[in-house]
Amino acid sequence: MRSTLIIGNWKMNGKSRNLAEVNKLLDGLNGQSCDLVLCPPATLIAQMAAAVKGSPIQVGGQDCHWNSMGPHTGDISPEMIADAGGEYVILGHSERRSDHGETDAMVNAKCVAALAAGLTCIVCVGETKADKSAENTLSVIEKQLHASIPENVQLSKLVVAYEPVWAIGTGLTPTISEIIDVHTFMRRKLIECFGDKACSVPLAYGGSVNADNASEILAQSNVSGVLVGGASLRAEDFLRIVSCAA
Ligand code: PGA
Repeated sequence: MRSTLIIGNWKMNGKSRNLAEVNKLLDGLNGQSCDLVLCPPATLIAQMAAAVKGSPIQVGGQDCHWNSMGPHTGDISPEMIADAGGEYVILGHSERRSDHGETDAMVNAKCVAALAAGLTCIVCVGETKADKSAENTLSVIEKQLHASIPENVQLSKLVVAYEPVWAIGTGLTPTISEIIDVHTFMRRKLIECFGDKACSVPLAYGGSVNADNASEILAQSNVSGVLVGGASLRAEDFLRIVSCAA
């Protein structure tokens, strides 16, 4: 049995003073058995990792470079995330793909580097509104899965997040049956590529997850977690989602 994975993605939000939310979160946890990961901006990884040390919360980055060091102004390497106390990294988020032109090949290279640094990779895939309207959801996801995940990935260090681009930050979500269809499809494709061992890879849904919809989403087979943006910023909201985890 996979334990439920609840990931908070703070995106470009949060300064030192917002670490108070992490303390509130720690205070509000009540023996939950789920796995919790918070991905703050890079500037807060070290402070947050220190704040949650010894607690059930783990910390991750939101992106990394595919090199471990060198002349890449403004980037951070997976080794740096690990050195700061991070254990996870989100890769291929649609905001990286659209704001920074990240391709599947770049996501793949980042994933190789992150795995070499010992990080667990949360690889994001998802269709745009136009893809959905053209009924291309599954073909887009198949292509992204195939090209973004390295062939020799360590499956125990992989999480795949289905994040429909049109659902992120919009308050819109797919229907439950669409969520089931996509997660079932992703599971099938991963098993085709990596064999039955891929049954253990956590699949998370992301896009306008909140305390009102998290329980139903998490109850679906093949959905073993959620990736939460806006509702992860305040401890009170995030705790309500955490309490939905079985
Ligand atoms: P949202 O973002 O929960 O604010 O929709 C999710 C994400 O982008 O990971």
